[in-house]
Order: sequence, then structure tokens, then C-alpha cells
Amino acid sequence: MILQFSLETDNADSVDTACSIVGVFEDGVLSAAASAIDQAGAGAIRQQMDSGDISGKLGTSTLLFAPAGILARRVLVIGLGAQSAFDAARLRTAALAAARAVDKLPVSDAVCYLTDMGVPDRDRAARVRIVALAFDHATYHYTATRKARDTTATPRLRNVHLAGDSSAQPALDQASAMAEGVHFARELANLPPNICTPAYIAEQARAFAASTTDVTCRVLDRAEMETLGFGALLAVARGSAHPPYLVVLEYHGGDAGQKPYAFVGKGVTFDAGGINLKPSPGMEEMKFDMGGAAGVLGAFVAAVRLHLKLNLVCVVPTVENMPGGASYRPSDVLTSLSGQTIEVLNTDAEGRLILCDALTYTAHTFQPQVLIDAATLTGSCVMALGKHASGLMSRDDDLAAQLIAAGEATLDRAWRLPLWDDYQSQLDSTFADMANIGGKTAGAITAACFLSRFTRGQRWAHLDIAGTAWDEGRKGLATGRPVALLTQWLIDRQ
Ligand code: BES
Ligand code: MN
Ligand code: ZN
Repeated sequence: MILQFSLETDNADSVDTACSIVGVFEDGVLSAAASAIDQAGAGAIRQQMDSGDISGKLGTSTLLFAPAGILARRVLVIGLGAQSAFDAARLRTAALAAARAVDKLPVSDAVCYLTDMGVPDRDRAARVRIVALAFDHATYHYTATRKARDTTATPRLRNVHLAGDSSAQPALDQASAMAEGVHFARELANLPPNICTPAYIAEQARAFAASTTDVTCRVLDRAEMETLGFGALLAVARGSAHPPYLVVLEYHGGDAGQKPYAFVGKGVTFDAGGINLKPSPGMEEMKFDMGGAAGVLGAFVAAVRLHLKLNLVCVVPTVENMPGGASYRPSDVLTSLSGQTIEVLNTDAEGRLILCDALTYTAHTFQPQVLIDAATLTGSCVMALGKHASGLMSRDDDLAAQLIAAGEATLDRAWRLPLWDDYQSQLDSTFADMANIGGKTAGAITAACFLSRFTRGQRWAHLDIAGTAWDEGRKGLATGRPVALLTQWLIDRQ
């Protein structure tokens, strides 16, 4: 279930709601909304700050039940940290804490005044987007294959009103569409790989296309890809009992003659590594190896919901990478759709093999004005940037700057790594035009170098989301990244 967002113009001391959410800083500094409630309610917040019960430390929350002097039945006081250090990232942290706390309360409605907080370089529209996305993120619950978890919180949170007037409505609409795209991506990526197979991804894309006008869906199957010469993609698929597909979604929101923007997303529904089998610990996380596919599909959903005035194609190569008697092997030489040959030196470097054919197909079929791929491509990217930033690689400085700005605007951030020719020789092979791995060093970059050989002449950028597509550990959920980044980037292109 997705939260419904709307804007709230009533002040905190007069609003009628089940729960008002207000912020306080450290060192006893109240926000305007907290101060208004405090004055109307005979010092209810101030007293607890003086006693130390409310510290104002970033991300803390304290519930005041039925405070005197105001209509709100509850006030949730959120710590914002030091006033001097308050910024967009801290606003997000505070909003996540607020959402987690209010999600546990038996309320269906809440009014949030965190969007009133001034933040350097962020107008209210930006703040509304950030707070709405944080609320949506923190109140997501996975239920597809389990009973809803036990909760005392009935009713459940459904409506969140954010402080702001009608001028913030476009930003709120954008956030709602992003939230829907994020939800689509998270639901798809969280599903286990026995359910979310390549056929299932194709089916979801078809179902979305059928649910709306302006969208067409085409799915290439193994036989069609064989005819066309998808030699790299099909090699990866050979070890699996699940047949591969290439999913192609087209949205026509712009002029008929306008070249489309194109997204390509890695859709490996399970990456066992193939003959170069992965070690057991953590292998279950490789169900998220279709996070790039989920991300570009989610951004596509958001773009369609926003009726963006542009043309967009979304291409998803989807396969399962398994060991078996029919599997491709180390030392195999593959002929890609581009005609370039590839020596397989590791069957676990499969993402680039399905992407190279999908990129060739997309560039050739659609001649897009920009081509962007998203992929859970390398462990090396996680080593370099951790779980906070997606890796961004592009030869195009303008495109790279646009994507970094879109990530910064939504706090779905990316950080650029170099794509210099210096790294290309790591892919040298004796037996083919290139090898599919580049050795021990700079693995994220050499993977991008590999893809760059299939995107010559394109305005192309690559997002390595191996660290950002899901949260760490056994309980980690898909994040829906980079849906917000890509959607914001499209919004900015209009
Ligand atoms: N899907 C993995 C990348 C990955 C690893 C994502 C860990 C998230 C967490 C990819 O297919 C892969 O196995 N990459 C190899 C490449 C290597 C064999 C050159 C890797 O990164 O180890
Ligand atoms: Mn792999
Ligand atoms: Zn993989």
C-alpha cells in the first residue's frame, strides 16, 4: 500500500489531526511549529527539553499524547541535531525517524511540519520531495510471500499531510509518482527468484503496458534473439531452466519525431555465478541482481504516471545465471550482437554480457538521444563507494553532471568514477576482441570500459548500483534506487 500525500496549510497549533510531527534542535532550539505547539500547550515541549527528556539529537523521537491546548491528539517531537549542521541529508534522516515512529502508532493520518525547516540551497519543493520519499521509504512493508507482520498499530498510516501551500503541489505530485515507481521496483526486486523469473519480469512489464495508454511492450524470446545474434546474452542464459527474455517498453509522451531517452537495466533474476560458482555466504542476496531492471522499470512507471512530455524506451535483458551441463564456460569465446568477440574468463561477470547485447540492440533500434544503463554490476563498486552512493561512469561530462545533480536533488546520490582509456588495456585478450574481466584492480571501471565498447557514438552513462539497490544483510530489503535519481533526471529534461 502506498501512502497518500497532500499539503497542509493549517498551523501546528490549530491543525486537527491524530498526530502532528514537529522538529526540535539540540541545545533547546525549537522549530517554529514546535514553538507554536509549545506556546498553545503551556510549555509541553519546552519542559521536556529542560528536563533532558527530549534531547533534540538527530533522529530521536518523543511522543506527547493528548497535549493540552491544541486539537492534535498527539505530537511527535523529532530531534534534528545541531541547528548549524542541519542540511538536506539530515532532513531526510529526521523524516525517516518520524515515519518509523508514526508507522508504529494507531493512526491513519499525520501532519508533518518538517517541510517547514529551512535547509541551505533547498526550496520547499525540494524539501517536500525529500520528506515524502523518506516517509514512503520507511513505511514500506514486504508482504508478498508472508503474513503481514503482527502489529498493534491499527489503523495503519495512510495519509500524510506535509506543511506547504499549493505552490508545492507539482513537487508533491513528482514525489508521489517517484514513490509509485520505487514501490514497483521494490516489490519486484524483493520477490524470491523462484517467483521473480525472467518470464515474471516480462509479464510485469506487459501488465503495466496493458494498464495504461501511450505505452507499448514487446518481448523478444530466445528464438528471436538467436535469429538476431544475441550471442553474449544467450550464453549466460544457457545454464538455467528458465528461458531468457528481452523486454522492450516504449512510452510516447513527446513529439513523434523526437528521439527517445533510453534506459537499460540488468535483469539477472538470480546470479549463482555460473560455472565460476559464487561462495555460499551471501549468495541469497543475488536475487537482487535484477535491481537495475527493477530500477529502470520503476523510473519508467514514474515517468508515465507524470505524463512527461518526452519519449522513453526501457530495455531489460533478463536471464538467470546458473551452473549446469549446458552452461557457458571459462574460455568460451562468444560473438556478441555487435559482432565483437568476447573471451569468457569468468562466468560470474555475466551482467556485462547481457548488457552489451541489450545496449547494442537499444542503440541500433532506437538511436536514442541519451542511453543510460543501471546494473548491480560489480562488488568492486561496493568496495569503492559503500552502500551510500551509486557509481556513475560516463565519457560525457554534461550528462554525468546532470545525473549527479538529479541524485543530489532527491538524495538518491551517485558519485563519478573515471572512465579513462588508460583502463581499457586490462580487457586485452589473446583469443577474442576482448576479455569479459579486467583483473584485480578497478573492477567497477573495467566493467564500464567493457560496456563502453558497445556504446560508441552514444551519449551514454552507466550507473553501478551494486551497493545501493538493496540494504545489507539477511533482512535487507530492496531500496528502489535509482528510481528517484532517474525520474528526477527525466523531469529536468522536459
Ligand atoms: N552481480 C554481481 C555483482 C555484485 C556482487 C553485486 C556483490 C552486488 C554485490 C556480478 O555479476 C558479479 O558477480 N561481478 C563480479 C565480477 C568479477 C567476476 C569480475 C564481482 O564483482 O565480483
Ligand atoms: Mn555475477
Ligand atoms: Zn550479477
